[in-house]
Amino acid sequence: MTRSYISGWGFHVPEKVVTNDELAAIMDTSDEWIRSRTGIQTRHFAAPGEGPSDLAVPASKRALQRAGLTVKDIDFIIFATFTSDYYAPGAGVLLQHKMGFGNIGAMDIKMQCSGFVYGLSVADQFIRTGTYKHILLVGAEVQSTALNLTDEGREVSVLFGDGAGAAVVSATEEDRGVISTHLHSQGEFAKELCAPLPSTAKQPWISAEDIEQGRHHPIMNGREVFRHAVNRFPEVIREALEANGITTQDLKMIIPHQANIRITLEVARRLKIPPEMVFSNIHKYGNTTAASIPIALSEVLAEGLIEQGDYIVLAAFGAGFTWASALLKW
Ligand code: COA
Repeated sequence: MTRSYISGWGFHVPEKVVTNDELAAIMDTSDEWIRSRTGIQTRHFAAPGEGPSDLAVPASKRALQRAGLTVKDIDFIIFATFTSDYYAPGAGVLLQHKMGFGNIGAMDIKMQCSGFVYGLSVADQFIRTGTYKHILLVGAEVQSTALNLTDEGREVSVLFGDGAGAAVVSATEEDRGVISTHLHSQGEFAKELCAPLPSTAKQPWISAEDIEQGRHHPIMNGREVFRHAVNRFPEVIREALEANGITTQDLKMIIPHQANIRITLEVARRLKIPPEMVFSNIHKYGNTTAASIPIALSEVLAEGLIEQGDYIVLAAFGAGFTWASALLKW
């Protein structure tokens, strides 16, 4: 039976590091407030003119190198982002050109924080059916340019950072790789966390007045997001375990989307597992949306925290609301 597994991985974050104190210098917040509510200490912001497809290039090169492959070996690109460089076309085609891939297919996935797991599920289907052998799966975001870095936007803007993570998803006949994926959405909560503009339902899609009124910034009902996240994460992790007849005792590690350390700790508490089993690097990068899981996976592997044969779960929750999980045998 053909399965898909992650044969290469890598990440890249922009050079510029922004500390909590730097944010506190431009808005009414503090290092203490941000650390205690979110666990975040620093995040990276892209340079002017740098888009997610740019951040994706070094991440993808590292993933290809790790897999021992070249651009010629890749059959398809899946690019998870909700902040593509242009409104259209998507970032996948830009990466295809910047990396010098052949005229292979490139698909964008706009599923916010769940984007990488949704992308992995799509890659898995293409590989299991024998359509493709090697797929480049990227999660990359430039969110800093959309943030309201004033007192008014402080609840949202202290949370997010920019970055890119990549994985090569390859075919194998071995007993390893993606075991199952589980995808969900609930659009009735779309407005609880969203970037409402530009909107094609408006003419023009965005106006000078919209910008004057600050309607071009992302908006969030933090408490509502938190409340749903701490239910959906454990639920979708249990779904992945139960679908395969295993329990948390069989798991080496959970690599969740990095939203907030308090959400991560609450997930561990509700699953009755030690907090160290739920990986966190949010202190360094903040919430990088679709990039957070592949960045976290790269760091887990660099730190040698998982070995071949270990079961791990990737899990995400985010705007939409969307949530998803994947059980992998490493
Ligand atoms: N700095 C200082 N104060 C801030 C602040 C900031 N950056 N942002 C908000 N506040 C203020 C609020 O105005 C409010 O003030 P008030 O009590 O005078 O009205 C107060 O802090 C709210 O504090 P608290 O109740 O302790 O906040 P919280 O525990 O609800 O935490 C979040 C706020 C945003 C950190 C929390 O709701 C959260 O993490 N939500 C999920 C967000 C998320 O993960 N989104 C992405 C999902 S993929």
